[in-house]
Amino acid sequence: MKRLIAAALLAVSLPALADRLPLPGDTPASFRNECGSCHLAYPPALLAANDWQQLMGQLAQHFGSDAAVDRKTQQEISQFLERHAGSASRIGSAGAPPRISQSRRFKRQHHEIPARFWRDPRVKSAANCEACHAKAASGSFSEHDIAIPELRE
Ligand code: HEC
Ligand code: HEC
Repeated sequence: MKRLIAAALLAVSLPALADRLPLPGDTPASFRNECGSCHLAYPPALLAANDWQQLMGQLAQHFGSDAAVDRKTQQEISQFLERHAGSASRIGSAGAPPRISQSRRFKRQHHEIPARFWRDPRVKSAANCEACHAKAASGSFSEHDIAIPELRE
């Protein structure tokens, strides 16, 4: 009986898997430190391997910032990102340079959000996941943990 209940719960929670994206257990410290210093250390599953490759190949010109790291660190982070990258076909094109927030899947997940929420100065950029996903740093993108600035006050 217990088994049955567990199986039923699992079935119910499966479609929500996309909202739990904690950093994998083998996340190198360099990824948290380097790639989490200016913005969220984005979950690797949100871009495809070839997009991570492209991004990691041009860190000196990274969205107007210099995010360059030494060669060894670059390799360590690249390998980690590619190991845990998402499926290219499910994520869809992410633009060039690739952005999670420009991927087809991201747009689909966010298409109902009114323009004024994005324009809010507390959000500033779609890349600023934590502005709305209060627990993004611990990997939760669940609708229970959403706190859109404009709706908060
Ligand atoms: C010196 C600061 C800095 C560092 C270090 C840095 N980034 Fe960024 N990153 C930025 C800026 C600025 C943007 C653009 C943010 C925006 O558009 O609001 C950005 C954007 C991104 C985006 C696209 C976000 C979106 O729109 O979906 C990804 C992916 C990304 N960075 C990954 C990384 C990775 C991986 C590393 C580590 C190798 C890294 N970043 C290190 C400053 C940095
Ligand atoms: C302006 C606020 C806002 C920003 C910024 C934002 N999101 Fe969201 N996000 C939402 C809302 C609201 C939903 C729920 C949409 C719905 O259910 O229609 C959502 C849904 C999601 C989902 C789907 C969750 C599920 O239940 O399957 C993921 C994954 C996600 N966001 C990731 C991100 C990432 C990664 C970033 C940053 C690159 C980001 N979001 C930036 C508001 C935001």
